[in-house]
Amino acid sequence: MYELPKQIMNFKLNDYVGILTAGGPAPGLNATIQAFVYAAYENNIGVIGFHDGYLGVLERNFSILVPEALDPNRTHISSINKVNVMGVSGIIDKPGSILRNSRTNLMKIQGGIERAKQVTEELKLKALACLGGDDTLAVAIELHKQGVHVVGAPKTIDNDVMGTDYCFGFDSAINAVAKFIRSLMYDAKSTNGVLVVETMGRRAGWIALEGGAAGGAHAILIPALYRAKVEDKDLYPELEEYRNMDFNVDSVVEIIKRRLNRGKRYTIICVAEGYTDEILEKIIEKESKDIPKDEFGHTRLDKLGVAKIVADYIAEKLSIRTRAIQTGYLSRTTATSAFDAYMSINYGIHLLQLIQQGKYGKMVAMEASQFVIKDLSVAVGKIRYVQPWRFKNISKFWSWTLTG
Ligand code: F6P
Repeated sequence: MYELPKQIMNFKLNDYVGILTAGGPAPGLNATIQAFVYAAYENNIGVIGFHDGYLGVLERNFSILVPEALDPNRTHISSINKVNVMGVSGIIDKPGSILRNSRTNLMKIQGGIERAKQVTEELKLKALACLGGDDTLAVAIELHKQGVHVVGAPKTIDNDVMGTDYCFGFDSAINAVAKFIRSLMYDAKSTNGVLVVETMGRRAGWIALEGGAAGGAHAILIPALYRAKVEDKDLYPELEEYRNMDFNVDSVVEIIKRRLNRGKRYTIICVAEGYTDEILEKIIEKESKDIPKDEFGHTRLDKLGVAKIVADYIAEKLSIRTRAIQTGYLSRTTATSAFDAYMSINYGIHLLQLIQQGKYGKMVAMEASQFVIKDLSVAVGKIRYVQPWRFKNISKFWSWTLTG
């Protein structure tokens, strides 16, 4: 097995830790990696980055990460003992992940967890930091149960990981969606059309609500509106107010009608990719039937295209021009916002502190604007839906714009 170097440039290294990024890419991953690596070397800890998420662990596919890949004569270093070396300086604002991501699910691979454990032991890693959403953190929990020292940080543009108020990547995504909608407004106004803008967000509607509202959308459809009525009430008491709400695609048709009556012949609707309701449910089920699922059993919502289903429904109801736009992947690789870069740097620093404190099986989380430590287990088993008060506030705003 490969022996990791005890000295790199001027750094005498007592230990090594591993880091990986998995699931969908999100702005902030590289800023987290940069901060984590800087903090590690500051404490004489070397870092290896596994490529392609958990797949890189199985395949022993990694690079040595260093603050700057320059030797004392400031000559570029590309490898040490035939292992690739990557410098992390200057990646703070870079979207995506320099390590690459995958949705490899170790729990679905025969002996996957055990083999990954073996690799971390062979490399004598002090710990493994996993950056990802609930699926990625669920695998980390299994590794932890098998005795691997894991720590995690909540990364997803969906902002739907339980146990934290904020997942890095979200702010960048809503900034992108707001920008798209503001541009699309000119198309709608110039064509007297109804544009239905679909956002990512899987089962939660954070991107649609906050990106849609900030962009000036005239109505927004999020999964919680209907999911609250079908989810287990005891598991989701926080969704109670939605159960008394009656807002669905027909409510959107009414909003468009009222706008038309007021001479506003253009409308932008923002819909979360995971949206459904009692009216569209049958159509969506039928359309989803043959759509492939990913390694964690999620339907490929990009192939479903709920915006088109909503647009077709509105066109049929009102005999007006409608168009559907999917913004998903564009919002996921948009520029890293200042807020995300700042949050990610802190997530990276706190991750290394968890390792130094030996707090394994834990994740760094944000709660009431404080970075806190939570058990990884809080991140799985439930979806962090948009709270009812947030939807209610924004829906009030739409009705006011109508009377304004
Ligand atoms: O989880 C992040 C996310 O971007 C979701 O919003 C989206 O549904 C999914 O990933 C898309 O997955 P993939 O990268 O497999 O197409």
